[in-house]
Parts: sequence; C-alpha cells; structure tokens
Amino acid sequence: VPQKNHSLKEGCQLAARFYHHLLMHTEQGREAYNYARSARNVSEEAMRHFQIGFAPSEREVLSLLFKKREFDLSEMEEADLVQRREDGRGPFDRFNRRLIFPIWDMGGQPIAFGGRALDEAPSAKYLNSRETPIFKKNEVLYAYHLARPAIRKRKFVVLFEGYMDVVSAWMAGVDNGVATLGTALTGKQAQLIRRLSDQVTICYDGDSPGEKAAIQNAETLEANGCNVKIAPIPADRDPDDYIREQGARAFMENMIEGAVSVLSFKMNAYKKDKNLQRAGDRKEYIEWVLEALAKISSPVEREFYLKQLSDEFSISLEALKQEQYRMYQRVR
Ligand code: UTP
Ligand code: MN
Ligand code: MN
Ligand code: MN
Ligand code: MN
Repeated sequence: VPQKNHSLKEGCQLAARFYHHLLMHTEQGREAYNYARSARNVSEEAMRHFQIGFAPSEREVLSLLFKKREFDLSEMEEADLVQRREDGRGPFDRFNRRLIFPIWDMGGQPIAFGGRALDEAPSAKYLNSRETPIFKKNEVLYAYHLARPAIRKRKFVVLFEGYMDVVSAWMAGVDNGVATLGTALTGKQAQLIRRLSDQVTICYDGDSPGEKAAIQNAETLEANGCNVKIAPIPADRDPDDYIREQGARAFMENMIEGAVSVLSFKMNAYKKDKNLQRAGDRKEYIEWVLEALAKISSPVEREFYLKQLSDEFSISLEALKQEQYRMYQRVR
C-alpha cells in the first residue's frame, strides 16, 4: 500500500534526523561521539555527510517521539524501528546503545538502519534492520545516492563490505564507494552498479571470507557486464584498518590504483593454499593457471601472464606454451 509505505519512510526519516541530532548535539550522545571521533577517527564532516547517529541506552526514546508526533506505532514496528514487548506492554526502541548508520534508497530516503555496538562483544557487533516493506537488503547498496555523482565523474565504482569502510574511504578521498551490507552481492545489486559504471574495484576485507566473497562477487559483476579489479588488502586487515594505519595516500596508491586483475588476485589466493616449494603443488598451480588462461580471449593479456609464470618458475615461455597446447589437446 503506497500510503503506508509513505509513513514507514517518514518514520525512518524522523529516526535518522533524531539519532543524528543526539550524536551531534547532546550530552546523551557524547560517549558515542567520542567513540566515533577518537576510536574510529570519523570527522564531523563525515558524520554529517553520512548522517551518522546514536541510539541511546534508554529503550523508549524513539518510541516516545513517535507517540508525541502521533505516528502509528504498529507501522513503526513494521518499519522495524520499534518492537513490541513480549508481555504485550507498550513498544520499545529497536536500536539501543549503538552508533547508527542510515541506509538509504536510491533517491536518498532513509529506509533502514545499521547499528554498531559501542562496546566490544556484548551482543552482536552489528545489527541491521530486518527486511521490511520498504527495505529489501539484497536490492540496496549502502551510500549509492551519495556516491553517484563521484562515480559518474571518476568513471568507476569502489565496492566495500561495510559502512565504516565507505566512511573511512570517503575521508581518504575515495568518494565513489558503496557497500554491500556484509559480503553477499546479488545480480540485482550488480545491475545497480552497472547502471552507473562498468568499471568496479572490489575492496573487501583481507580475511578469508572477504577474499572468497571478492572472487565470487567479481564473477557476478563480470556476468553483469562489468570489468573488475580487486584491491590487495593485507590478510588480517580491512579497508578501514588499512587507512587508519597506512594513511589516505598509501590507500589510494596501493589499494585503489594498485588493484589487480581478478586472475592475479585468484593466483595469489590459490598460492596461499599451496606450498610451491613442493614439485607436486607447483605443477598443480601451473596447470591451474594455464587452464585459467585458456579462457582469456586477449592474446596480449594471455602472454602477459605466461611471461609472469615463466619468470616466477624459470620455465621457458616455449615450454609453457607447449604444455598449454598439450592440455588443450587433452581437453578436446
Ligand atoms: P565486519 O565483520 O568486517 O565488520 O563486517 P568489522 O570490520 O569487523 O567491524 P568494525 O570495524 O570492528 O566496526 C563488515 C560489514 O558487514 C556488515 C556491516 O555493514 C559491517 O560494517 N555486517 C556485518 C552486517 O550488516 N551484519 C553483520 O552481522 C555483520
Ligand atoms: Mn545537526
Ligand atoms: Mn568482514
Ligand atoms: Mn571489516
Ligand atoms: Mn573494520
């Protein structure tokens, strides 16, 4: 029902403004402000740009505001902003004691929220709104409307895992960043990206789930007509960590401009699982690369990787090409 969705969106808009105000201008928000400012290095400018907020510890703050403004509380429950108590008493706020990141639709209307716990580890570190009539998680990219002008200007997209990565990158001058909420990327989200640009740099966490997702999402993006590169984030870091530790310039040069082809990234990932000192692993690796190269249509690109293999293992180009030819015969 359009009328109802309208009021769900109004509720989200009021919540976004209210949470942002609490963070920026109130004593209640001071601890969260200090966390964002000092522990996470978020500038005031970034807090405003991303309308970051704070949901306080008391559990009936937003609900009370909704009551005062005569919002229909069962609709606010549908928007996942308030929850009903199990004993049936009045509703309480869904988010509490969390730094709040509004999640917008393509037009910039807040439709959901992500909350980051202020403390390490008591409950879930991140909590997102559940799916609602106005929020389908797998059809949304975080910060899409904010990044759109920069994506058009720079002619490429940077894809992150999380809101904090997008915010940090923005402060580092990478203003064309959007995020999946977690590591999954759907075809629908790939299409949203493709609509703005066909050049994508994936900048996921350096841990094993991030690495796996980067490879899988690269394939989804390629299947939707994108040309993909992947940033070589170090193993136990994420983009936000990297920027905090190495600085904006190193991030730009080594991760964004230094992003590698999907095949190079896969080659590095494959190598980590192997011991290339061992002849058997070495042979397997070389055959795997040769097989992957058979799918590359550009002869120049193929030659580039062959040369790399040749240098790395001191095998002549000629021998590699013969081996490739032999494999090809075998496959036929
Ligand atoms: P990470 O698990 O990589 O967060 O989730 P992190 O980098 O350790 O968190 P910080 O730096 O300590 O704050 C990456 C992103 O995935 C989404 C969030 O957007 C998060 O920023 N996420 C993660 C969820 O939406 N839900 C989850 O349960 C976990
Ligand atoms: Mn303000
Ligand atoms: Mn992660
Ligand atoms: Mn992370
Ligand atoms: Mn992080």
